[in-house]
Amino acid sequence: MKIAVISDLHANPAAFEKVLEDINIFNPDKIFCLGDLILAGYDPNKVCEKIFELKDKFGENFEIIQGNTDKMIAFCNDEMVKKTKEAFPCMGFSLEQDVKITDKKYIDFVKNLPEEKLIEINGLKIHLVHGSPRAQNENIYPELMVETVEEMVKNSPTELILCGHTHKPCGYSLSSGKTVVNVGSVGRSMTNDKMPVYLQLTIDKNGQFFVEHRIISYDNLEASKKIIARGFEHCEDLGKMYV
Ligand SMILES: [Fe+2]
Repeated sequence: MKIAVISDLHANPAAFEKVLEDINIFNPDKIFCLGDLILAGYDPNKVCEKIFELKDKFGENFEIIQGNTDKMIAFCNDEMVKKTKEAFPCMGFSLEQDVKITDKKYIDFVKNLPEEKLIEINGLKIHLVHGSPRAQNENIYPELMVETVEEMVKNSPTELILCGHTHKPCGYSLSSGKTVVNVGSVGRSMTNDKMPVYLQLTIDKNGQFFVEHRIISYDNLEASKKIIARGFEHCEDLGKMYV
C-alpha cells in the first residue's frame, strides 16, 4: 500500500504541480492531505481545483482534514483580520483578500472538513492531524525534546501520527512505540532552500511501514513574483518568504 501525504499547500499551484508530477511517478494507492489549502499564496482557487480533481480521481482513497488557516478562512471576521494584521501583517492582509477572491464552494469545503481522522491500514493505526493530536495549531518542530513530543501525542490511540503545520519536515520514533512524522509543506516550505516537501508512506501487509520525505524543485522566484503581483499591503513579505 503506497500513500502520498501532502500538507500546507497555501495557494501555491506551481509548487503543487511539481509535487503532483513526483506523486504520479510514485503511483500511490491513496492520498492524505493534512490541510491549509488557501491562505497566503498567489492562487487559492487553482490549488482547491486541483484538490477537487484528486478527490474525484481517488474517491474513498483520498482523505483530507482541516488546517488552522483553513479554519481562519472559513470563520473569518473583522476582529480576526484586525488581530492577525497586528500580530503578523502580511498574513492579516492576505486573510482579508483571500476570503474575497476564493470561490465560496472552496470556503464551504474547508469549513466542513474534520480536524482529525483515525485510519487503519493492514492493522496499522494512523492519526491524521494538522498540528498535533492535542491542538490544530500546536507545533511539532524538528529538534524538540522527545519528552515534549511524547506529551503532545500521548492521548493519540495510534502508532503512527502524521502532522504538518510548522512547514518543517521531521520525525520522531518515541520510546512509547509511537512514530510521529511531520510531512513538511508543499506550498510554503520553511526548509533552508524553501523547496516543496511531501511524504511517501509505504505499508506492507503486516502493517510495517516505511516513510520517505521527498524534496521537489520548482520555480520559487516566479511564484514569489506572482504573490507580490497581487499588490495588497505587505504582500512583498509573503514573496520574500518563498525564496
Ligand atoms: Fe500552514
